[in-house]
Amino acid sequence: MTQSLFAPLRVGPFRLEHRVLMAPLTRMRASQPGDVPTALNAKYYGQRASKGGLIISEATQISLQGKGFPRTPGIHSDEQAAGWKLVTDAVHAHGGIIFLQLWHTGRISHSSHRPDGTVPVAPSAVRPSGKAYGADFKAYPFEIPRALELHEISGVVEQYRQAATRAKPAGFDGVEVHAANGFLIDQFLQDRTNRRTDRYGGSVANRARFLLEVLDAVESVYGASRVGVRLSPYGTLGDIGDSDPVVLFTYVIEALSAREGAYLHLIEPRSNAGLSDEQNLHLPDSAATLFRASFSGPLIASGGFTKDSAEAAIDDGRADAVAFGRAFIANPDLPRRLAIDAPLNAYDRSTFYGGDERGYTDYPTLGESSARAEAAA
Ligand SMILES: Cc1cc2nc3c(=O)[nH]c(=O)nc-3n(C[C@H](O)[C@H](O)[C@H](O)COP(=O)(O)O)c2cc1C
Repeated sequence: MTQSLFAPLRVGPFRLEHRVLMAPLTRMRASQPGDVPTALNAKYYGQRASKGGLIISEATQISLQGKGFPRTPGIHSDEQAAGWKLVTDAVHAHGGIIFLQLWHTGRISHSSHRPDGTVPVAPSAVRPSGKAYGADFKAYPFEIPRALELHEISGVVEQYRQAATRAKPAGFDGVEVHAANGFLIDQFLQDRTNRRTDRYGGSVANRARFLLEVLDAVESVYGASRVGVRLSPYGTLGDIGDSDPVVLFTYVIEALSAREGAYLHLIEPRSNAGLSDEQNLHLPDSAATLFRASFSGPLIASGGFTKDSAEAAIDDGRADAVAFGRAFIANPDLPRRLAIDAPLNAYDRSTFYGGDERGYTDYPTLGESSARAEAAA
């Protein structure tokens, strides 16, 4: 039996001791007001840190304009940066590595997240179907977003640079640019949401321009080898879509490959929540398989993996590492459990978003589970 998840892997300047990565996971537990990470958040990340293990933080808004959900943390104030330092210290205390996921939600937002009530911005004024998450955790119909003016776009790129500039002294080892799941960068990439006729719309090269400018900006702070990118080709979250995903994402991934960044992180299409079997049938089996040949650096796959399917993905060369989401929520010691084939705690979906330590820092490690079982016996 192979243990390919437990072979070391080089990612940028880092030597990972294993390939069981923690996927970015929004948990909506930043303190209010100000969207500031807390000691409880530091405890949660510290519990999930392991020696030479890579954690990608929950999506973190780069500005108030980019905020789209309640109680998500930001990286646009000094107070937030100080809160994040608690988190990165907790991870480093265990010998772990942590990247910050940089997030601008674009049209997947709601005016209630901004004190001035401004509507969300997007490449084009195309309203998403579905419901927005309001500041009060209630669902509201999406608003029609305001299309960014050409002269404003460099300012949004600057928000990413500022965020990276704050992330570095806050102790993050690198950053992951969130270009997946129908948020702002994905809205620029895909033609269902990008109807622009200027140099940020139309051709694939024009639609990819915003992402590449964002990368220029964050690389100017961190250097390319500490910057990863997350993409979700064929994803449908946020009512996103493209008329020709193969052409679009091949172009984007080849451009990323040439930049020699830390890694490419791909979400597998069939991990989309809420698709019917019929819709799933039309999706390719694996984005990692489809785009592997276009990317020469480390490729992380995510979405619906078990230990066995993760090892198979590494063994057949599709991926170099696997990021686990829900299993990491419920199993703070996931790498160890997978290494010894221990049973996994089940996750509780009702505590994914918002709330307190319940369903957050109270999932037991293996040792704690057996101690509890003994005490109960
Ligand atoms: C509660 C929850 C929050 C998530 N938050 C984020 C996020 O902040 N950024 C992101 O890129 N993906 C996010 N995702 C997607 C996960 O990173 C991952 O791709 C997905 O859960 C599939 O992996 P899994 O099958 O191992 O859970 C989230 C998923 C869940 C379940």
